[in-house]
Amino acid sequence: MEVVIVPDAKAGGALIAGAMADLLRRTSDALLGVATGSTPLPVYEALAAQVRSGAVDTSRARIAQLDEYVGLPADHPESYRSVLRREVLEPLGIGTDAFMGPDGTAEDVQAACETYDRALAEAGGVDLQLLGIGTDGHIGFNEPCSSLASRTRIKTLTEQTRVDNARFFDDDIDQVPYHVITQGIGTILEARHLILLATGEGKADAVAATVEGPVAAVCPASALQLHPHATVVVDEAAATKL
Ligand code: GLP
Repeated sequence: MEVVIVPDAKAGGALIAGAMADLLRRTSDALLGVATGSTPLPVYEALAAQVRSGAVDTSRARIAQLDEYVGLPADHPESYRSVLRREVLEPLGIGTDAFMGPDGTAEDVQAACETYDRALAEAGGVDLQLLGIGTDGHIGFNEPCSSLASRTRIKTLTEQTRVDNARFFDDDIDQVPYHVITQGIGTILEARHLILLATGEGKADAVAATVEGPVAAVCPASALQLHPHATVVVDEAAATKL
């Protein structure tokens, strides 16, 4: 695992956007796995600036979703499909036909999970997966004690994650869904390159457990230690406990 400490979130965003742009220059139809949350926004902003300046061509790029709420209509502004359309697809000029994600509204959620897991493999696998990290060490929505070999499946959110995410739902925890679909940790580990970005002091404990703790299901992000090509980008605030 490679750990890169950057001065701030903007520098982290620029660094990772650079890695994505390099990948797209090498492989124009690369499958980029993207995450939601506040942390990756500087990455998408920096990459969008490169697209606007003509430094990178996204016309053949493909995007894969990491996780999704169960039961929110796809056009709900906080469904991750809507969020990614707003924050990634539109700014990068990528059409919805180049986007793949799980169906959080499916009647048979488990079947939808299996279909998506298979679809990722059939698409050739994710070339570069960008990850954030929860304050409890979760990646995607793999909460603590998720199996490190897990596949895409339904999960129940912890109270902490629902509290953390209430800010996207008018600060009203009652609006935050209880159930989600997430790529499993085993699924995530199949991406060819994993890049985790963590910024702010609130992530310092989770970063320390990820990088210096044992590989343990209690900190799902620690599974990155098992990956042959994992990069952890942290700003100085998130690196204080390393
Ligand atoms: C959610 C997402 C994760 C993300 C996490 C952290 O739980 N499912 O993919 O990493 O939030 O979000 P933030 O970056 O806003 O702290």
